[in-house]
Amino acid sequence: MTASNDRVVIFDTTLRDGEQCPGATMTFDEKLEVAGLLDKMGVDVIEAGFPIASNGDFEAVAEIARRSENAIIAGLARAIPADIARCGEAVRNARRPRIHTFVSTSPIHLAHQMRKTEEQVLEIIAATVAQARNLVDDVEWSAMDATRTGHEYLARAVEAAIKAGATTINLPDTVGYATPDEYRAMFVAMRERVPGADKVIFSTHCHDDLGLAVANSLAGLAGGARQIECTINGIGERAGNAALEEVVMALRTRRDVMPYETGVEATMLTRVSRLVSAATSFPVQYNKAIVGKNAFAHESGIHQDGMLKHSETYEIMTPASVGVTKTSLVMGKHSGRAAFKDKLKALGYELGDNQLQDAFVRFKELADRKKHVYDEDIEALVDNQIAIGQDRVKVLSLTVIAGTMGPQQATLTLDIEGVHTTVQSSGNGPVDAIFNAIRRVVPHEANLSLYQVHAVTEGTDAQAEVSVRLEEGDKSVSAKVADPDTLVASARAYVAALNKLSVKRGQINAQAAISA
Ligand code: KIV
Ligand code: ZN
Repeated sequence: MTASNDRVVIFDTTLRDGEQCPGATMTFDEKLEVAGLLDKMGVDVIEAGFPIASNGDFEAVAEIARRSENAIIAGLARAIPADIARCGEAVRNARRPRIHTFVSTSPIHLAHQMRKTEEQVLEIIAATVAQARNLVDDVEWSAMDATRTGHEYLARAVEAAIKAGATTINLPDTVGYATPDEYRAMFVAMRERVPGADKVIFSTHCHDDLGLAVANSLAGLAGGARQIECTINGIGERAGNAALEEVVMALRTRRDVMPYETGVEATMLTRVSRLVSAATSFPVQYNKAIVGKNAFAHESGIHQDGMLKHSETYEIMTPASVGVTKTSLVMGKHSGRAAFKDKLKALGYELGDNQLQDAFVRFKELADRKKHVYDEDIEALVDNQIAIGQDRVKVLSLTVIAGTMGPQQATLTLDIEGVHTTVQSSGNGPVDAIFNAIRRVVPHEANLSLYQVHAVTEGTDAQAEVSVRLEEGDKSVSAKVADPDTLVASARAYVAALNKLSVKRGQINAQAAISA
């Protein structure tokens, strides 16, 4: 891929660096949905996964590659021949395939992790980049921990990668240690020193351990980089990666001092942020730049006064420019199917006939129970449906006795692949009683590591959105479900997480669960 001097290539790694962070696991269908939306939004490169990591990752990358329309589809591979071969196989059917291979270059990684000499690593780079280049024309090479590598050795490593055929050179701040000045200077130095540097695109990849990931990425552009690697909502290893939405909007809003363009359709940022949050069950912090619930909310009297007089007094970009639509009340129990379909279209959903019918039935149920149905309610409802559409364990009914006269009790009926089982359980509070009941019907070893509730909209009849994270050994899954009844949402979220865990284990033993 080439980039003109003012065009920045946006490389999204939500499905790889984002998905590999604890608790952000997505199912196959969720990955396809996220990839589809990123492609539609104009992201240039989608890093779809790490094909050698598991068969699930391989299948997801291969299917995303097959379905890709415009974006380059990249897979990640260590500097190991078997990794590169598997990655090549996974991306092969993309219209524009890329292999992204990496190796560490810093003295600390060489000495303690790789136990290799600098010369040995140079040989590995030459051999593995050449292998990748024999499989595809578009090869990205990354110097892991580049920011803790001396410039002299880094330049030799970059030169080896370029000579072997790399077309993009990525210099990650793997541990989130660099400052913007240092990061910019590294790109300047590599572009000045390395023969052939003018023939490749340099790329940033910044982690947010010191909260500098976006600032460092933008500093990389000033040093001559023309690709930024980033993730939706900034998810990723440890403190996360540079947030795509922040990079895109910083470049748009401050074009006066950063004269670069991206191909991203910014009005889709809110939608894709919500989708990734729903798929991963990672809540977006309220004050998160661009996509946080409060990013365009004005609370203080002085700010509200200014906003009423002229929106530019306190807004540097419009909510509409990132796809925030004004919350509307037009939908209610009298709304018909056609109006509902129109509303879904306006919110960016394209559902098949059966999905639409299911969503409509659920919308009517909601409208019967809830006075005002907001856009956010409808989004939560459809996202739920997409999340639980494939489930093999379902909550059929739930009755809870709560209040001051404990112990609290839950009576729960689950449908496990068509078999209905009812149990009663007590607990230390209603949620504990429900989760105990689920554990009785579906015994498991997983630990509940997160239980979080927040209201989707305002008012006492707001839908409650419940996030649950379960951890079992090295597996971690999350699920998020909304319902006007917090306890029903809790039961459904726990069951949705269990379903994801079963998928992750590669099997579901429903019969064992029922007989236990
Ligand atoms: O942070 C990092 O160095 C990475 C590489 C694999 C590119 O994610
Ligand atoms: Zn990374």
